[in-house]
Order: sequence, then C-alpha cells, then structure tokens
Amino acid sequence: MVHSLERTKQNKLLTGLVAHDNITRLELLYEVNKKAENSATRLQDMLEQVITMSREVVNAEAALVLLFQDYGNELYYEMTNSPVGRTLRQEKMNGQYGIAGQVVHTNQPLIVHDVSRNSNFHQAIDEAIGFVTKSLVCAPLNVKHKTIGVIEILNKRDGSVFDEQDLKAVASIANTAAMAIENTQTQQSLLEAYRSTIMAMAATIDAKDRLTQGHSERVMEYSLKAGSALSISNEEAQVLEYASALHDVGKIVIDAGILGKPGPLTPGEWEIMHTHPSVGAKLLKEIPCMERAAELVLRHHERYDGTGYPDRLRGEAIPLGARIIAAAEAFDTMTTDRPYRSALSIDAAVKELNKCAGKQFCPIAVEGLLAGLHLDKSKK
Ligand SMILES: [Fe+2]
Repeated sequence: MVHSLERTKQNKLLTGLVAHDNITRLELLYEVNKKAENSATRLQDMLEQVITMSREVVNAEAALVLLFQDYGNELYYEMTNSPVGRTLRQEKMNGQYGIAGQVVHTNQPLIVHDVSRNSNFHQAIDEAIGFVTKSLVCAPLNVKHKTIGVIEILNKRDGSVFDEQDLKAVASIANTAAMAIENTQTQQSLLEAYRSTIMAMAATIDAKDRLTQGHSERVMEYSLKAGSALSISNEEAQVLEYASALHDVGKIVIDAGILGKPGPLTPGEWEIMHTHPSVGAKLLKEIPCMERAAELVLRHHERYDGTGYPDRLRGEAIPLGARIIAAAEAFDTMTTDRPYRSALSIDAAVKELNKCAGKQFCPIAVEGLLAGLHLDKSKK
C-alpha cells in the first residue's frame, strides 16, 4: 500500500512526464485498488467508484456496469449513475445479444460512434428510462479467462465522439475494475460464510447456557445499534458485529453446571467464570479476520473505572467496541428474566445505565446505546 504522502510525491514526479488525465486516471485506479483491498468494501461502493472513475476519465455523460449473475447467461445492470439513474438496477438482458453481448462474444473493447446505425443496439432500455444514447464505449470485464461482465460508457459530455485514447482508457479501467469487482465479490461471499458460521456459534453458546437464551444475538443487535448511533465506520461495525455475537464464546469450555447454576456462584466458580474473556479471545485469534474481534472479546468485562477483569484496564484504554458490548450486555441482562430475579423494566434499566455511566460503563457507550435503541436518556 502506497502511503498518501508518497503518492503525492510520486504524482508530482509524474506530472512532468505524463498528461493530466493520466494522473487523474492513476489517482482513481489507486482509489479503486484501495477499496478492493479493504475487506469491508461493499460491492455497490466498489461499482460506484468504478463508474465515477470511468465517467470522469473519458468525460462521459453516463457509465454503467453489467455483470453476469451466478454464472448464467443474463447480464444484470449492477450499477449505473446519472443521468441514466438507478432505475436500471432491476433490468436484465440476455448476455448473448446487444452491443454488450457482442463485446462479451469477441472479448474486445468497442467504440460505437453512432448507435442509431448499429443493428445490435437495444433502443428499449433508452426508451424505458428516457435517456438518449448517441455513442458509447464498451469493454469486457475479464478475470483470468472468464468474462464477468462489461462496462459501458455513454455519450461524450462535450458532444464529440469517443476516440482511441478513450477506448484505451476504458479498457485499462476495465482490467483493474474486473479484478477489484472479483475480489470484492469473493470477499463478500467469504464474509457471508463467516457471518453464518458466527451466528451458528453464537446460537451454540446460548444453547449451552439455558439461562441466557438469545442473549448473544440481542447483545449483537444492541451493540450494532449503539455503534451506528455513534457513527462508527463500516469496518469497525463489522468487527463489533463479530465480537458482540461471540463475546461469550469462551463459555464453551465452562462446565454447564456452573453456567446454569440457579443460585450464587462460589468464589472458585467465579474464578472459572472469569476466564471466559481470555479463553474466547484465544479461540478467536486462531481464526483469520478475527484478531480485532478477539481484542474486544478479551475486554468486554473490563470496567470504565478500572475495576473489571482480566486486566483492570481503565477508560479509553478499553477499546470503544468492548465498552459498547459491556453496556449492551448489561442492558440485556437487566431486561431479561433470570431464575433468581425478574427482569427490570426498560425505564429501570435505563436509570441503572445512567447511574453507572462514568463508573462501570463508558458514558459515550451508554449514550450511543440509548440513542441507538431510541430510549429516553433523561431517566436518571
Ligand atoms: Fe461475558
């Protein structure tokens, strides 16, 4: 990864060597690559970037990406932007026909100077969305030996025609974009697989502890709502999602007799219970992509005032995600029935959270939780 300062220096050096539009192209390609490297990038964000980049680089009115879905023959308009608009999201076309089909078939980029003279051009889409395509550049999106779709760039903004330079630019963007799209799609399916495994693990933890049915899932829901109210980044939200769902994963190794004990625990039993954050973190560290979630799991019983475990961390030395999970977990524990006491009312739980904010709980985390759950934070 090139640091932004180095990148600026590189660009300054390059300015003397290449034309300005090439610099812009490099910058935009860099942005696309950067997004592709970020596992939290959603496919739609990636496509948005590709389309904006393509449009700007060749000064076009509109751009769109069509992708084959599930290895079928139909091309889906995955993303478009102005003035074509997003109405096309629902449209699909047979990948063997049209100019896109021609480009897929020949596997060569193509300029069409006047679409009205091209028998492969489908007027129907233009008519459906009220856009008039005059000329276009279309390039295949190839990954290894597979065509995953095409990119189409429509109409020069200045009314001129696309030239060979534009064709080369679009073809080079298509090469980078294809890899970036493929990476993002792969990342996305991996993340989906992770997510379902994690939810299955969370359900297993709750099933083992009959006193806390559904606890992990609720803590995850509350934590994510708090995170969203605090405007955490997508990447942080993903870490928080995994960590909150699995915060008690370490309980897997704790005897069910201790977990489900209806009465108070003995000091020895508490000592065993207190190992679950460290055990959970150790388990998660073995799984790729879980290092940061492991840190939150390790810290979810630390307390803001430094009286928690395992390391008596204090204040902001505790990661924000762990402070959020601590508040979310306490809220769920207070508002669900336990064998030795009935659930508190929501108002009473809010009062208790407010009372302990700045002591047991981080005030920011409590504020985020109450805002995320749309609860009246004035209850003192
Ligand atoms: Fe816990």
